[in-house]
Amino acid sequence: MAAHVDPAFATPGAGDYEDFFEDATRLDAAIAAAGLENVWLHRRGEAKNLATGEVKKPGAGWQPWGVQSSNSLNMAVITPGFHPLQVELDVDRYPHWNVFQQNAGRRLHLAGVGLEGAGFEMVDAIRDLVADGGKIVVKTVQSKKGIWFNEISGPDDAQRFVDDAIMDIAFHMLGAPRAFLVQQHVTMEYEYRLFVVDGQVVTGAGAIEEHTPIDATCRPFNNAVRKNRALHSPIEDRPDIVDELVYFGQHIADEIKAGPGVNLTRYVLDVAIGENGPLIVEFNSMLNSGLYASDPTAVARKVNSLRS
Ligand SMILES: Nc1ncnc2c1ncn2[C@@H]1O[C@H](COP(=O)(O)OP(=O)(O)OP(=O)(O)O)[C@@H](O)[C@H]1O
Ligand SMILES: [Mg+2]
Repeated sequence: MAAHVDPAFATPGAGDYEDFFEDATRLDAAIAAAGLENVWLHRRGEAKNLATGEVKKPGAGWQPWGVQSSNSLNMAVITPGFHPLQVELDVDRYPHWNVFQQNAGRRLHLAGVGLEGAGFEMVDAIRDLVADGGKIVVKTVQSKKGIWFNEISGPDDAQRFVDDAIMDIAFHMLGAPRAFLVQQHVTMEYEYRLFVVDGQVVTGAGAIEEHTPIDATCRPFNNAVRKNRALHSPIEDRPDIVDELVYFGQHIADEIKAGPGVNLTRYVLDVAIGENGPLIVEFNSMLNSGLYASDPTAVARKVNSLRS
C-alpha cells in the first residue's frame, strides 16, 4: 500500500515525509498480518473497521498498533485478543536491568542530584567514571527527558557540569535518587535497531535517520548501516556487521526471556559495535521507536501469532 500512495509533502526532510511512510507501512503491516477485518483506524475517539466501515468506540482489550499519536494517519487499532501492550511500559526501566549493565560496553552509574545524603550523587558518579577528565553522557532514566554530552576536564569540573545540567532538568528530578544514567562516552559504531517479539529478534535495520521501511533492500534484516550516526557518515552495505549485531541481539533477547526480573514480550533493542565488540545502546518500547528500513510486517505477523 505504502508504495502506491504519497505524503502531502513529497520531499525527504520536509518534516512529515518519514513519518508518513512509517505510518503507512505500519498500517500495511497490520493489514498483512491480521487481515483487513481486524484492523480499525482510530480517529478522535472512534475506530472505523477497514473491511466493513463499521464505527465503534474502542473498549477494554483493544490494542493500539504502532503509530505515534502525533503522526499523520492517526492510530490503527487491532481488535481484542492482540497481545497486551501494557508490559511495554516496563522497558523504560532498562537502565536498572543487569542484562543492560553487563552488556553496555561502558561503565555507568545510576545517580541523582540534590539527594542530601539519600543516594549516589551525580557529581560523585562523574568523578568515579572520569577521574582525570574525559567525555561523559548523562541521560534521564525517564524516557526522552534529556541527554547531555560533555567533556569533563577534571574532578572540579564535574560540579560545573552538574550545576549547568540542573538548569535544564525538571524540578521533580531534583532529589530523586537514580533519576539519571551517568555513562562513560565510548565508541558506538554501526548503530542498529532490532525489534524483538516474544524472545525472538524478528527484524532490524541500521540507524539511518532518512530511511523508512520503503528503503529496505534486504528483509527482515536490512544490510545498510552507517559507521557514525551523529555525523551521518556514508551508508555502507555490511552484511558481516549486521550478522554480528543480530547474533548479539538474539543472545540478549534469550537472556531476557530466560532471566528473572524482566517480563517483556515486545521491545526495541538498539545495539552497536564498541571497541570490544557489540554493545547495547538502549532499549525502547515499540510505540516509541522509529522504524528505519526494518520490516514492520515481520513484527505484525509475530505479534498476531500471539493472539489469545
Ligand atoms: N555512552 C555513550 N557513548 C557514546 N555515545 C553515546 C552514548 N550513549 C548514547 N550515545 C549516542 O547518543 C545517541 C542517543 O542516545 P540514546 O539512544 O541513549 O538516547 P535517546 O534519548 O533515545 O536519543 P535518540 O532519540 O536520538 O536515539 C545514541 O544513538 C548514540 O549515538
Ligand atoms: Mg535512542
